[in-house]
Amino acid sequence: MTATATTRPRDAVGETSSGSGRIEIRGLRKTYVRNDKTVVPAIDDVDLVVEAGEFCVLLGPSGCGKTTLLRCLAGLEEPESGEIVVGGRPFYASDRKVSLTPQQRRLGMVFQSYALWPHMNVERNVAFPMTTRRARGTFGKDEVRRRVTRALETVGIGELAQQPVSALSGGQQQRVALARAIAFGSDVVLFDEPLSNVDAKVRVQLRQEIHALQRELGFTAVYVTHDQEEAMELADVLVVLKRGKVEQAGRPRRLYREPVSRYVADFVGTADILDGTVVGPVASADPGEGPRLVEVATALGTLTATAPPEEAGVAREGTEVGVVVRAEDWRITPPRTTTDGPGANRLVGVVRESAYLGASTQYLVEIAEQVVRVRPQGSAELAPGQELALYLEPGDLHLVTT
Ligand SMILES: Nc1ncnc2c1ncn2[C@@H]1O[C@H](COP(=O)(O)OP(=O)(O)OP(=O)(O)O)[C@@H](O)[C@H]1O
Ligand SMILES: [Mg+2]
Repeated sequence: MTATATTRPRDAVGETSSGSGRIEIRGLRKTYVRNDKTVVPAIDDVDLVVEAGEFCVLLGPSGCGKTTLLRCLAGLEEPESGEIVVGGRPFYASDRKVSLTPQQRRLGMVFQSYALWPHMNVERNVAFPMTTRRARGTFGKDEVRRRVTRALETVGIGELAQQPVSALSGGQQQRVALARAIAFGSDVVLFDEPLSNVDAKVRVQLRQEIHALQRELGFTAVYVTHDQEEAMELADVLVVLKRGKVEQAGRPRRLYREPVSRYVADFVGTADILDGTVVGPVASADPGEGPRLVEVATALGTLTATAPPEEAGVAREGTEVGVVVRAEDWRITPPRTTTDGPGANRLVGVVRESAYLGASTQYLVEIAEQVVRVRPQGSAELAPGQELALYLEPGDLHLVTT
């Protein structure tokens, strides 16, 4: 009931139960009006459920609404309509006029800019949210000290407790912010691009630590980034936003293998998306259940691809589609030793350029006057000018219509 949420006694704040980190967002909208009176639908009818203890990553280009969604969750921004329920507790419900303050929501937050108090030392920064007027009474002095010490040790900077934050490196400052977010013991911790100000090496280390910490402490994480590698590494649930709307949400593997649109295919992983027209189903393909093989005319030639079963229309002759080709799905076969069978995507190309990426090498390969990106797994080095026989598994080629 609404009344219980808004009139909850203060000493009950912080009460936890199983499932208390489950986030339900329904029909959420938030528009901004710019100075020139243009209306920006920053969050446009978002529905999203994150289960307790899951790591949810919001991914999308600049301006797609990632920060706005986090701020609405935290209570730093008032939406126009919709509902936010966390652990069964309404944080915001436009129809019932519920809107808890950030303090009542008690979520941990880690920002890109660290948001530390420069005049306080590390210990006092971490203790701060537990010593505000509102939180007083929830934690006794000894309890605050115990939580601060444990949080600092958890993030590996116990020895810096007495240092002024201004004397710390960016990576250390972000550890202080992280300690502050977890010291409270929140069921939900929100992260807004927490690692974009730290250097590349520390970034990778810190994100692994954040992941381990989240697993250990069991809080629900909502983590904003526009770094897709970071997103793939961290996410149990990946949410790709487009102009304030959820374009696709699901397991990272699902978004990678079965993107619903060019936008998602482009944003998650390295893909070339070839324009094509469906010629028809592959003659030998089983018309029964499961994925259907279809032939698609593209600039590279006719390719056999998999049409998702739930999208019957995709397999229809004449449908305009995009064929999503992942750089690492190209197989290199020795030239002229293979025979063609039905459904085989065998192509011939010429290496134009190569870029060594460490774990793999990416080649730009010209096929029928088109250039595609090819990252073969574990094969010998290829030289520019070299002719290649290439192969694509029909099951690896996914079709999108928008
Ligand atoms: N206070 C504000 N006043 C007016 N418009 C705003 C305000 N805050 C955000 N916006 C607009 O809302 C949209 C979403 O902004 P938001 O900050 O949520 O994007 P973002 O996905 O976090 O982007 P970035 O990756 O650049 O941080 C943008 O078009 C932005 O210009
Ligand atoms: Mg942002």
